[in-house]
Amino acid sequence: MGSCISTVSNAEIDLHRGVIPETDLHRAVVKNDMIWLIYISSFTVTSHPRTQGGIIEAANLVCFCFSELAAATGHFINENVLGSGEFGVVYKGWVDEHSLKATSPEMGMPIAVKKLRDDSCQGQQEWLTEIKYLGHLCHPNLVKLMGYCIEDKNRLLVYEFMPNSSLDRHLFETGHSPVQTITWHHRIKVALNVAKALAFLHHEVDAIHRDVKPSNILLDANYNAKLSDFGLAKDGSVNSRTHVTTRVLGTEGYYAPEYMESGHLTTKCEVYSFGVVLLELLCGRPAIDINRPYKEANLVQWARPSLSPRKIFRILDARCFSPFFLSESVLKTAELISLCVSSKPMSRPTMREVVEALGKIQELNRNVISRA
Ligand SMILES: Nc1ncnc2c1ncn2[C@@H]1O[C@H](COP(=O)(O)OP(=O)(O)OP(=O)(O)O)[C@@H](O)[C@H]1O
Ligand SMILES: [Mg+2]
Repeated sequence: MGSCISTVSNAEIDLHRGVIPETDLHRAVVKNDMIWLIYISSFTVTSHPRTQGGIIEAANLVCFCFSELAAATGHFINENVLGSGEFGVVYKGWVDEHSLKATSPEMGMPIAVKKLRDDSCQGQQEWLTEIKYLGHLCHPNLVKLMGYCIEDKNRLLVYEFMPNSSLDRHLFETGHSPVQTITWHHRIKVALNVAKALAFLHHEVDAIHRDVKPSNILLDANYNAKLSDFGLAKDGSVNSRTHVTTRVLGTEGYYAPEYMESGHLTTKCEVYSFGVVLLELLCGRPAIDINRPYKEANLVQWARPSLSPRKIFRILDARCFSPFFLSESVLKTAELISLCVSSKPMSRPTMREVVEALGKIQELNRNVISRA
């Protein structure tokens, strides 16, 4: 069995210090063929005590009982559904801030509870991976995993509740009037927050998220964005010349072309996915839209030829931009998107460079707002 150790700083976290039953742990190790050790500045070293039953405790995660989470979510009633994905349904629940016991809605702190479908093997694997990563990583732009539940066949995850839901709802759900539509100022903020999360993952943790898309970008009341769903995350390599070969996983429309062809996963593949999200923010259209004419269905293919200053007005989200005024921040964003979705991985910037570019774009836009 190999070991995967990246030295960023001198403190250590062991990603298997998660709440993982021994059988699952064994499976996870064999599957990934490595010992998960990451050295990272913001974590402290602790030994990992085993409790009875083979559960290895994580320092910061709470182990919830199923009955407690059932009570917190009103027994998983439909009114409390926040959304659903491939592997399960997410419910809103309420717990006491201190004891974390279920409370009535008016009294408690809201939480989001993801309940996995029992029949999903891939879901079980993702449940484990989510704990391995989110259970130990801490960054203002990563959603906080508070705890988990493992009881009989039940597998659940408990997150901080994000009151403004996910980015896809704001960008693609019809019915939003121009007044309610997420502003360009907020779109830049979201992009910068996500870029910071990815720069942290790529450059400090040496990991690749692998499923960057608007439904995995959650928003708080002030449009601060946090990346969620680490179920497909993979140990990566900051050096884009090396790669991990994997089964092609992720979401259609966001795959870098070279990843689709070869299964070679590098951080530059994720820069491409991020570029697609940035394009979605600019155009207000999803990466794939099968309801559009064939030539318009794939966003990158449709928009790429118009990313120049003279043609950009053709693809901008009309709910957000005036056709008579093209700000410099829009043009610089289009330039950045062109680089991120370049078909040549080496031409794409690193996520650190993207953070820097978006910081300048935010500044340009602030100046426009303050002059207005
Ligand atoms: N912590 C949270 N706070 C508020 N809403 C959330 C939270 N986590 C998830 N949601 C909502 O639940 C929805 C479903 O999430 P889930 O991760 O299960 O699926 P998805 O991301 O939409 O699709 P996929 O299965 O492809 O990942 C999200 O799109 C989001 O709107
Ligand atoms: Mg998701």
